[in-house]
Amino acid sequence: MIADRIRRPALLDKITTAEAAAALIKDGMIIGMSGFTRAGDAKAVPIAMAERAKTDPFKITLITGASLGHDVDRMLTEAHILARRMPFQADRTLRAAINRGEVMFIDQHLSETVEHLRSNQLGPIDYAIIEAAAITEDGGIVPSTSVGNSASFAVLAKKIIIEINLSQPAELEGLHDIYFPGRRPSRVPIPVVACDSRVGFPYVPIDPDKIVAIVVTDEKDSASSIEAPDADTDAIAGHLIRFFEDEVAKGRLDLTLHPLQAGIGSIANSVLSGLADGPFHHLRMYSEVLQDSTFDLFDAGKLVFASGSSITLSTACAERVFGDFHKYKEHIVLRPQEISNHPEVIRRLGVIGINTALEFDIYGNVNSTHVGGTHMMNGIGGSGDFARNAYLSIFVTKSLAKEGRISSVVPMVPHVDHTEHDVDILVTEQGLADLRELAPRERALQIIEHCAHPDFKEALSDYFRRACARGGHTPHLLEEALSWHEKARTAGTMVPLTRM
Ligand code: COA
Repeated sequence: MIADRIRRPALLDKITTAEAAAALIKDGMIIGMSGFTRAGDAKAVPIAMAERAKTDPFKITLITGASLGHDVDRMLTEAHILARRMPFQADRTLRAAINRGEVMFIDQHLSETVEHLRSNQLGPIDYAIIEAAAITEDGGIVPSTSVGNSASFAVLAKKIIIEINLSQPAELEGLHDIYFPGRRPSRVPIPVVACDSRVGFPYVPIDPDKIVAIVVTDEKDSASSIEAPDADTDAIAGHLIRFFEDEVAKGRLDLTLHPLQAGIGSIANSVLSGLADGPFHHLRMYSEVLQDSTFDLFDAGKLVFASGSSITLSTACAERVFGDFHKYKEHIVLRPQEISNHPEVIRRLGVIGINTALEFDIYGNVNSTHVGGTHMMNGIGGSGDFARNAYLSIFVTKSLAKEGRISSVVPMVPHVDHTEHDVDILVTEQGLADLRELAPRERALQIIEHCAHPDFKEALSDYFRRACARGGHTPHLLEEALSWHEKARTAGTMVPLTRM
């Protein structure tokens, strides 16, 4: 019954159509919209906005938590609505528009966006468009499968449009922990001292008079599109398991490890699932996206608690999890992304961060975002929040991309998301390079030996030898350092001539 989902009777009068709500959005507005890696996104109003723009063109700045589902970014791009987009996306059509220079994309650390809003460096937000599982008697918003930036959008926006999604389980209520850092200079430490700390409200407290429209929807989140584990991701997981076992043997970790974070994408998801095969137990997660792998670890009896900002699942896993949600609910908390990704908390908890690189160089600088140094893939997301502050910052990738034509280990990355200073461990299916306490020349030997594919090892070693002959703390041949990428751009391959 709708009155169970909208428990403040006065708000029932605000129920309207997606078209009427979309008509409130005017040219030049700044919109904060819910949605984090396909979870908990607004599903009806943005599509009505795209439809309206066909006859009534307008442009907006769109800020979300992270990527959206339901092809919303594609539709908004095709409707030419997006003037500016931040802080993350993962849509092919939008990516192409960004790379043509048509949409100004601001690729931001996910923990930072609301700080910019709070301090008026960005904003003000005209409308927050938020998906909710329910509205409480006091008008508090109960988010659905993600919190992302929704809580701050709702608090900071001039007006709020809510999508009440009946397909989102009512049992989601109680899952969220909404905490806002105070304003500076009187801000106090964030009181999260363990993965399962609950420090805020189970709903977003707002002034209910700001709610101007409520749209009722009944559509599930888009399923995640991650690929199943393969031989390479199994090998990466195997190297990591052996590394963790070795750390335990050396007394640096125990078998419960430290709280784990795993980034988006097929590789990180597969690697985390692979930990179910290790000897570890009573694992905890302090992460941002809880993917299928989180629930694989729960079901394997390995994981005791997971803190995140969203739950993004494949169709089969969503049926399993939401079909039996009481089994998981008390072991999960969803937080605003500025808390799930907060440097202070990540450093305090000693998180082990596992994120995916597109490529890395022989000294350990990582490129996660720019193909060929120029073309945006998705964005840095939360990887930087975790990499800089983690107890162990781990990056994984396959040693080859594009059917073996591209090496993921290169002389110099043409774009740096994570500098050598933020990277402790690199893993490919070939092996693992432990870079801790090593100087650049020592790091290069480890990376080439353990991570590079045999097809490219000789060329990398040759580059490194000749660079060392020229000298330097971090030796390079600057005229040649990016030639591998130039060759990939012009010939579609980095494969050395002798092997072609
Ligand atoms: N050069 C060029 N392209 C490359 C490449 C390289 N060295 N390595 C991978 N790619 C391409 C793949 O071919 C694939 O292209 P396609 O989509 O056209 O098939 C694409 O990048 C994705 O690679 P894939 O191997 O499928 O990995 P993934 O799904 O695990 O994604 C990232 C990898 C890096 C794109 C993804 O993890 C990401 O966006 N990371 C940045 C954000 C982040 O880390 N957030 C973490 C906190 S949640």
